[in-house]
Amino acid sequence: MIPNIPEIKNPERFGDVDLPREKLEYALSEALKKVDKAIDYFGPTLFPTEYSKGNVYNKMENVGGWGCGFWTGILWHAYELTGNDKYKAAALAHIPTYTKRIVEKIGVNHHDMGFVFTPSCVAAWKLAGNEEAKAAAIMAAEHLATRYHDKGKFIQAWGAVDDPKAYRLIIDCLLNIPLLYWTAEVTGDKKFDEIAYNHFNSTIEVCCRADASTYHTYYFDPKTGAPVKGVTHQGAFDDSAWARGQAWGVYGPMLTYIYKKDERALTVFKATTNYLLNNLPEDLIPYWDLSFKDGDGEPKDSSTAAIAMCGMLEAVKYMDESDPLKVIYVGAIKRMMNTLIDKYISKDVPESNGLLLHQVYAKPQGIGVDEHNIWGDYFYMEALHRLLDPEWKLYW
Ligand code: GLY
Repeated sequence: MIPNIPEIKNPERFGDVDLPREKLEYALSEALKKVDKAIDYFGPTLFPTEYSKGNVYNKMENVGGWGCGFWTGILWHAYELTGNDKYKAAALAHIPTYTKRIVEKIGVNHHDMGFVFTPSCVAAWKLAGNEEAKAAAIMAAEHLATRYHDKGKFIQAWGAVDDPKAYRLIIDCLLNIPLLYWTAEVTGDKKFDEIAYNHFNSTIEVCCRADASTYHTYYFDPKTGAPVKGVTHQGAFDDSAWARGQAWGVYGPMLTYIYKKDERALTVFKATTNYLLNNLPEDLIPYWDLSFKDGDGEPKDSSTAAIAMCGMLEAVKYMDESDPLKVIYVGAIKRMMNTLIDKYISKDVPESNGLLLHQVYAKPQGIGVDEHNIWGDYFYMEALHRLLDPEWKLYW
């Protein structure tokens, strides 16, 4: 459903503060020290694991999961922010690994083609005109489209597409569908746009609750396509809001808004964002599930803050000065970024080869808890980039 936009409960928490450019530049220079260290460690064709152990990412090949694209994407941000060709060369060196992965269908039996191929290959096409990267990204979009079910009009997240027990979408996929919108634009094949927009509509219909919190995953009936039930995978409870899922529900609608100019997407963004802002602890960096509060002894997930900041930074571009929420979002962005720079960056952790501390991959599964997660590092870099250069052109 399209939820009503919740009122911001304590707007004074999001009042304007200073976020000087020098502080952003300092944060960037600290981030680049870690990026430089990581380039040396991973070399031209290896990638960080999705989450660190003891704040150290291990090495992996580009053969699975949903994290590799974020490392290449971090390199693209570093290149754009510094103009230093070593970052461009490092990002371009990755491209053959993406080609191999999609041509040979290695570790691609899931929906995360957008996360993997957009910040890496679409960016390589947009920033360097790299034809190999463009071809790999289009192939990834074609593969993603094979997971679309007309019954229910959604892209199946995980599992075999002919497995009726796996017949569900997850809110995260709102960040995978920009790959389809982009492919429709560059190929002229409207099928990709239709699949993406249908998936967006199905997702907001089932994942948004009346109070603007979100379900993580939602099952459909494979025979009729009717929505069946919402369940969590990475959240605390089926009916709670898993923090990062809520953040995907903040940034995701803005990415559809860019391509479709559908005002309902902006409404969903405002609703999910206000729910998130109303459920933040004292320092504005969320716990891994929004049902937890200060004193509950649960870990923070700083990746949620980074993703939500990117969504808000995109949205304020389109909001009228007279919209009272605009000033709230600008205040929230500045306060969250101040806190991340003051308390969550890894500069004082010498062994670390990542950027943001205190992220959570999947608490119920016990993986990547209170560690670096490569997506949080990526969206932190994107948020820094957006703040340093409001004219930044999206990779998504
Ligand atoms: N897309 C999976 C996650 O956010 O953990």
